[in-house]
Amino acid sequence: MADLALAGGKPLRSTSYPSWPQAGPEELTALERVLRSGNWSSSYGSEVRTFEESFAKYQHARQGICVNSGEAALILAFKALQIPPGSEVIIPAYTFVASATAVVQVGAIPVFVDVDPDTYCISPRALEEAIRPQTAAIMPVHFAGLPADMAPIMELAQHHGLKVLEDAAQAWGARYGDRAVGAIGDAGGFSFQASKNLTAGEGGIIVTDDAEVATTCRSLADCGRAVTAQRYSHALLGGNHRMTEFQGAILRAQLDRYPGQLELRTRNAAVLTAELKGLPGVVPLELPVDRKHSWHLFVMRVDPREFGGVSKSTLVKALVAEGIPAAVGYSSPPYQQPVFKDGGVAESRHMACPVAEQACQTEAIWVRHPALLGSEEDSLDVARALAKLQAYNHELSTLDQTSTSES
Ligand SMILES: Cc1ncc(COP(=O)(O)O)c(C=O)c1O
Repeated sequence: MADLALAGGKPLRSTSYPSWPQAGPEELTALERVLRSGNWSSSYGSEVRTFEESFAKYQHARQGICVNSGEAALILAFKALQIPPGSEVIIPAYTFVASATAVVQVGAIPVFVDVDPDTYCISPRALEEAIRPQTAAIMPVHFAGLPADMAPIMELAQHHGLKVLEDAAQAWGARYGDRAVGAIGDAGGFSFQASKNLTAGEGGIIVTDDAEVATTCRSLADCGRAVTAQRYSHALLGGNHRMTEFQGAILRAQLDRYPGQLELRTRNAAVLTAELKGLPGVVPLELPVDRKHSWHLFVMRVDPREFGGVSKSTLVKALVAEGIPAAVGYSSPPYQQPVFKDGGVAESRHMACPVAEQACQTEAIWVRHPALLGSEEDSLDVARALAKLQAYNHELSTLDQTSTSES
């Protein structure tokens, strides 16, 4: 009789975690309000504007400009920050490809540097080594919702005269010290894509304290319109990156619910982190005491030797079979993706990034945020499932060999 669910045994969990995305009567009311108003575009209604103001305030920023994706937020912010074509932008090697393609879309060259082994956020030391005369900007990524170490990053940026654009795609409500992320640097971009903790299916927002950057972003997102002028006056080379009023209305409802959900995720993540201390070979990413995480992902560094030496993919398949929403995460740093590899479609440069490569290949396991949205007991099941895999690692090794020989 098999013990592990992947081998046909009984799964640890018999019930699902809360589903995502979540919507209540508030979203229905909001959608109906827009539907009946006839103002479906943010050019005419006030839903998006109202959300922009609330979200900017939540992130301690003076201005917020909604757009149609997180990637568009980064691209338009880079344009507004006037990153010169051919210049270099330093970004971490452990991130979603959109961080890098946003750089390419403005004609600049992404330079990948390694991440800190404890947080998987950009290593300030690696960043400093990559700065050269061609460098125009730094883009820290608040990976999983864990804020990058902004103090040394801002110091380096000031010393070398570089712009800082925060990729805060996963970091709604995250804080560095007592400052919310996003507008610590010159600007920041957030995503509202469907998997995100704050979502309208798709969408994004730029936040900034710089009035000129905000005005430029607003114009670029609206076909280059001169904001105060006549409707058919186009001063900048913009496009249509506008968010719809339906999205704005949903986001208003989601934001009302968000602080409570964030506190729940924070409590459950703390309980799970404490529980994992007793499990050999599993170390959650470190959360420095001065930072508030948004818990888009609960990320663990796993030592396969404590799991019978199996591959990360077998480990994740076994966790999923036990009922845990686990994922292998990024399969490689962006510079190893065909779009960038060996000159690829787009030019890039990278420093040695052993930490990011190890995270992708063997070490990093993600647990998606709905696992933190139930009870404490629900969250503790993540640790229980890992302990179960360790207890039956003999069976796990057999499964690994089967899946290797099959692939
Ligand atoms: C780190 C990071 N940057 C940028 C993006 C792009 O956001 P979007 O998918 O909304 O374009 C994402 C989305 O997953 C992301 O995780």
